[in-house]
Amino acid sequence: MKTIALLLALAGGALAAPNADAVSVCQFLHSSYPQYTVWDPSGSNGLETFWNQSYYSTTVQHYWNGVNAKNRPACAFFPANAQQVSAAVQQLNQHANAPYALKSGGHNFNAGFSSTNGGVLISFNENLGSTVQNPDGNTFDVGPGARWGDVYEVTEKSNQVVVGGRLGNIGVAGYTLGGGLSYYSAQYGLACDNVLNFEVVLPNGTVVDANSKSHPDLWWALRGGGNRFGIVTKFTLQGHPLGDNGRVWGGIKFYDASKRQQIFEALSKFTSEYPDAKAAVIPTFDFSGSLVANPALFYFYDGAKPSANAFAGLENIEALMDSTNTTSYSDLASQAGGAKIYGINAAAHVNTFPNMPPQQMSQLLETHWTTYQSMVKNDSSRNLDIQIGTFATQPVSVRIARASQERGGNTLGLDPANGDRIWVENDLIWINPACDNDCPQYLREVGDTIKTSFDSNLKGTKPTNYQSGDVNFVSLNPLFMNDAGYYQDVYDSYGAANKARLENIAKAYDPNGFMFRQGGWNF
Ligand SMILES: Cc1cc2nc3c(=O)[nH]c(=O)nc-3n(C[C@H](O)[C@H](O)[C@H](O)COP(=O)(O)OP(=O)(O)OC[C@H]3O[C@@H](n4cnc5c(N)ncnc54)[C@H](O)[C@@H]3O)c2cc1C
Ligand SMILES: *[C@@H]1O[C@H](CO)[C@@H](O)[C@H](O)[C@H]1NC(C)=O
Ligand SMILES: *[C@@H]1O[C@H](CO)[C@@H](O)[C@H](O)[C@H]1NC(C)=O
Ligand SMILES: *[C@@H]1O[C@H](CO)[C@@H](O)[C@H](O)[C@H]1NC(C)=O
Ligand SMILES: *[C@@H]1O[C@H](CO)[C@@H](O)[C@H](O)[C@H]1NC(C)=O
Repeated sequence: MKTIALLLALAGGALAAPNADAVSVCQFLHSSYPQYTVWDPSGSNGLETFWNQSYYSTTVQHYWNGVNAKNRPACAFFPANAQQVSAAVQQLNQHANAPYALKSGGHNFNAGFSSTNGGVLISFNENLGSTVQNPDGNTFDVGPGARWGDVYEVTEKSNQVVVGGRLGNIGVAGYTLGGGLSYYSAQYGLACDNVLNFEVVLPNGTVVDANSKSHPDLWWALRGGGNRFGIVTKFTLQGHPLGDNGRVWGGIKFYDASKRQQIFEALSKFTSEYPDAKAAVIPTFDFSGSLVANPALFYFYDGAKPSANAFAGLENIEALMDSTNTTSYSDLASQAGGAKIYGINAAAHVNTFPNMPPQQMSQLLETHWTTYQSMVKNDSSRNLDIQIGTFATQPVSVRIARASQERGGNTLGLDPANGDRIWVENDLIWINPACDNDCPQYLREVGDTIKTSFDSNLKGTKPTNYQSGDVNFVSLNPLFMNDAGYYQDVYDSYGAANKARLENIAKAYDPNGFMFRQGGWNF
């Protein structure tokens, strides 16, 4: 029997550093909740839960950034309700050296933000991921481990939608706590603005509801503040009418690379004019070592057919291939496999820029396009293994800031008076583990290079629809947590006042820094 454990250990690669405190917490969890706790099959307790080891290996392997899959938690705990999470939190408090991690969909780009080597992995997808329509008919209770595709299948039955992920396999908890940019954001704000109630296990184990009346400070902090305030065990989300009787329009258009400047210019115009709040677009620009780079734009309209000029001219640029069509929302969310891909390694870096008039926008993005492409092509000179480099230019129209404010506001510090911005999400994908450190570093250089180019050529350019605010600050902030690298100063980017308020709330609820024992951004 010992031999089996040894073989598994070898097959598993890195051996977890045994952490005595984590083992104690796992022992408690295993004896209290035997069917919800699985030991590392390759560890010394592995045989106790050998028969259910597939739950362990599945959750440990299923990360968007495969670097996480090398971490081996001492045990994985799959809680089924808030009381079980509370019990785990109380045990973790009694064992101050036990690392832990919280895992929803596992799509965060940063290694170690939802994985732990040798600690306690609390994974929500298995037993705490259901979506239930409330008796009021237009709100939904969603478990933190749900994936958006599963949520939409439930809301769609009554021709409703919630503001959530654009690809189906992304997890609800991480996405929503980081803000959540959706096809519906110009109409209803970010995903976090549409959370009516968070059921939260506080850092001391107490279970509370955070909403506009109860713990309103915590409610606010959880709207974009990330994983530093408590463990969410239930999200109550606002439902909205879905398209024309559930029919929406969308798909991908591919363009010849020579069309890119036309796209950059049209994108600027679309972001500033934003003729129809039901329209949304994600323009992406991909490079790989040898392949030709064809811009790919995801289009969406919250109705069976887009209104005339909904995309301010972007839709008139001639495409090479066009898959847009009338369809269901869950069908759109499952396109490109819904991002259900495991086994790659990935990193992200976000840049915020003002949305500028077409000519300046094109100048900035054209520089980024050529520099990034040559850096990707140049990877062999640095011994890197870049499979794909990509950037997405995501419009952050003042419409989003307005919709957020109407729903109670969030922590990001987006003020409609500051004007329109774009979030440039830069991503790298690699396979060779030798690049696990160097690839994220290279991507950081990519992000710093475009920032430098902006600073030297375009600094001070006001965002379109700008009315007031410190131009040099608002133009480059906030950094979007959901697309940010671990080294980026996300909380700083929310502005000094919001950052101070967040810090005070964290101190009030978490004097011992319990939430800071896991990965994430720091104040
Ligand atoms: C292919 C792809 C597409 C994406 N598309 C979008 C998009 O359209 N819009 C957008 O905004 N973002 C998007 N993202 C970014 C995504 O929102 C973030 O990666 C987010 O962190 C993923 O959430 P998750 O639950 O899957 O991640 P996880 O890795 O499981 O968790 C992320 C973070 O949440 C914390 N956490 C998990 N569960 C809890 C809990 N119950 N309570 C408290 N904290 C918890 C963890 O500590 C961790 O730090 C995309 C990412 C990918 C890879
Ligand atoms: C195995 O683990 C899963 C996930 O927690 C649980 O639902 C199931 O009941 C377990 N199986 C047994 C036989 O206990
Ligand atoms: C659009 O969808 C309809 C109905 O599902 C289908 O018949 C048609 O072939 C689709 N058109 C394209 C261009 O994919
Ligand atoms: C390509 O790599 C070489 C060697 O590191 C470097 O000198 C050159 O500046 C790089 N070019 C680009 C465009 O990054
Ligand atoms: C837990 O923290 C909350 C908020 O700070 C506090 O109200 C509550 O009394 C604490 N509970 C315990 C058991 O200490």
